[in-house]
Amino acid sequence: MIVSGSESQILAARLADVTGGRLARVEFKRFPDGELKVRVPDPSADRGVIVASTPSCDAHIELLQLQDALRAAGVQEIVTVMPFMGYARQSKVFETGDPISARAMARAVSTGTDRVLTVEPHKTDVVDLFDVPASTVKAGDLLAEPLPGDLTEPMFVSPDEESTYLAEAARNAYGRGESNHFEKTRHTSTDVEIEPRDVDVTGRDVVLTDDIIATGSTMSEAVDVLQAKDAARVFVTCVHPILMSNAVLKLSDAGVDAIYGTDTLERTVSEVSVAPAIADAL
Ligand code: R5P
Repeated sequence: MIVSGSESQILAARLADVTGGRLARVEFKRFPDGELKVRVPDPSADRGVIVASTPSCDAHIELLQLQDALRAAGVQEIVTVMPFMGYARQSKVFETGDPISARAMARAVSTGTDRVLTVEPHKTDVVDLFDVPASTVKAGDLLAEPLPGDLTEPMFVSPDEESTYLAEAARNAYGRGESNHFEKTRHTSTDVEIEPRDVDVTGRDVVLTDDIIATGSTMSEAVDVLQAKDAARVFVTCVHPILMSNAVLKLSDAGVDAIYGTDTLERTVSEVSVAPAIADAL
């Protein structure tokens, strides 16, 4: 049985298709005081796979409620899939007095499940914060899927060294081109500086790859750098297209040719599905 959080209904349906599992009906309700309630009217199954990205506090609460509903109904094995795990970027103490928020979330989720899967978290060692077995699903190769087949001398670039593995995975999946990375300095949550290093992109089609696009600051700065270096077409790709606030407008204004993401978050740019990769990992 596949059980969806409200943020992951399309992906859950795709996962049900790929695995042949039953997609459970789930009801989502909000009380007048703001509290949430989920209900799974027919929870009968030996194994429940909850698919719930958690880009918001509400989504976190729903996930805990879904776990509890399945346990209360006697489901023997509960697998929790967080395609996008919110708070995963807060995985260390930045200043004295900080919580490790990713650990707090992981501990809460661990109480209601036998196992956790998450897709390309910001740092893979976030899985160590869970109290139950947890593992990651790779999606870098999927970023090549929506790209046109006629890229000119493609260069796959990540905006910082940390996400070079995504540029390499996308390049390998595309089958030709080179990969490289820029250097990024983040001054504030929306003020990002990109240092191009010695990457020659003149006249070449460039594919930017990152794990997350949130405010779009990182990618729009990277696009500016590429335009200044006379790149040809620029494609922006990411695993988790949060695309908050005016991120799409910023990217469009910077001159991107297209934005592609996966369906870990359901946006209009979610051109490629992680369902088969999750199915393989189940
Ligand atoms: C952080 O290092 C991540 O890899 C992304 O680069 C970051 O989350 C993107 O955030 P934004 O779109 O707000 O610049």
